[in-house]
Amino acid sequence: MRLSDCHNVEDFRQLAKARLPSPIFHYIDGAADDELTKARNSGAFDDCDLVPNVLAGVEGIDMSVTVMGKKIDMPLMLSPTALQRLFHWQGERAVANVAQRLNTWFGISSLATVSIEEIGEAISSPKLFQLYIHKDKGLNRSMVERCKAAKFDAIALTVDTIVAGNRERCLRTGFTSPPRFTPASTLSYAMHPGWTLNYLFRDKFALPNLDTHVGEGTNVAVSVADYFNTMLDRSMDWKMAEQIRSDWGGEFCLKGIMSVEDAKRAVDIGATAIMVSNHGGRQLDGSRSPFDQIAEIADAVGGKIDIICDGGVRRGSHVLKALAAGATAASGGRLYLYALAAAGEAGVERITGKLREEIERDMRLMGVRSPSQLSRSMLRWR
Ligand code: FNR
Ligand code: LAC
Repeated sequence: MRLSDCHNVEDFRQLAKARLPSPIFHYIDGAADDELTKARNSGAFDDCDLVPNVLAGVEGIDMSVTVMGKKIDMPLMLSPTALQRLFHWQGERAVANVAQRLNTWFGISSLATVSIEEIGEAISSPKLFQLYIHKDKGLNRSMVERCKAAKFDAIALTVDTIVAGNRERCLRTGFTSPPRFTPASTLSYAMHPGWTLNYLFRDKFALPNLDTHVGEGTNVAVSVADYFNTMLDRSMDWKMAEQIRSDWGGEFCLKGIMSVEDAKRAVDIGATAIMVSNHGGRQLDGSRSPFDQIAEIADAVGGKIDIICDGGVRRGSHVLKALAAGATAASGGRLYLYALAAAGEAGVERITGKLREEIERDMRLMGVRSPSQLSRSMLRWR
C-alpha cells in the first residue's frame, strides 16, 4: 500500500500499522479497557442519519467558522496529541505546516516533541497549547509564561486525565517514553528499520516543554500511565482551573468536558470554549461519545461558549453531524496521526485535504452554503 492508495482515515491506519513498530502503533490506536468508548465515539455518528434539502443553490460554499475568536477556513481542528516525533520524525512540525496551509486550529501537547517557541515562530495560523497541570508548580507557571511569550492564541486545559486510563495494549507492548528496546519489543523495532533508523539518527528525542523541569519521559523512560499517575496533580479542581485561566488571561478551553453541569461551570469560570471529549476513549471506558452529548450541551450553553466535538471523527459527514447537533467545530487526533505515522507531512496533507473535500461535497449534498445553515432538523437518530 502506498500514499496514493490511501483515500480515507482507515487506509492510513492500515499503512501506519504496516510501517510502525507495534508498541508505537498500539499506543496511537489503543484505548482504555475494552475500548468500547473508542468504538462508540465513531459508532455514534453511524446511529444518526442526515436528511438533506435540495435545489438550494450551492455553487458558492463558505466552510469557515469562528472558534475562540479566530476565523478558521474549515470546521475541523487538529487536536493536541503527545510524542509526535515518535510517530514520524517530522512530528509536530509537519502537522503545524499543514494546519497553517488549511488555516485551522492546531494544538501542541504539554508532551510535544517540539517546543512552544518553535511552533510559535513556525506558524501564524491559530495555535493552542494543551496544558497538563503538574505537581511541580514551577513547571505549570513556566509553560503558561512560555505560551504568552510565544504568542499562543489559546490554552486548553485537559481535565479528563486525573488518573491514567487502563490502556491494556500499552501494558502488553511495554510502551514507554522514550521507547525502551526490551527483549520483547526489539524484534518489532528490527523489523521496521525505516522507523528505527529515523528514530536513532534524526533529531534526538526530547520533550522540550517539560525537560527544563522534569527528567521523566525524556531522560527516564516511563509509561504514559506512570507519567500521569506520578507527575500530574490529582488535586486539580475548578478553583485551580479558574486560577490558570486568570494567570493566562487569554482564550481558554477546557478539554474533556462531557456533562451539562460541567459545561455550565466552564461558562461560570470564564472559559471561552469546551472540547466535549473523552480523550479518544483512552481514559474512562464506558463514557458516552462526545457526539451524543453535543445536543444537550448546546441546548444548555450554546451561544455562551464555543463547543468543540472531539473524538471519533473519521469522515466529513461526521463533522456535519456534529455541527448540525450544535457544535461550533469538530476536532480529532487519530484522523491525522495515522497519516503522520504512515507518511509524514505528505500524509497529513493528503488526509486533511480529503476530509476538507468531504466536508465541502457533503455541504453541497445537504443543501447548505455555510455551517450556520446546518441544524438539528436535518438529523434523525435511529
Ligand atoms: C491523544 N490525546 C491527547 N490529549 C491531550 O489533551 N493531551 C495529549 O497529550 C494527548 N495525547 C494523545 C496521544 C494520542 C496518540 C492520541 C490518539 C490522543 C487526545 C486527543 O487530543 C483527542 O482528544 C483524541 O485523539 C480524540 O479522539 P480521536 O479523534 O483520536 O478519535
Ligand atoms: C495520551 C496522552 C499523553 O492520551 O494524553 O496518551
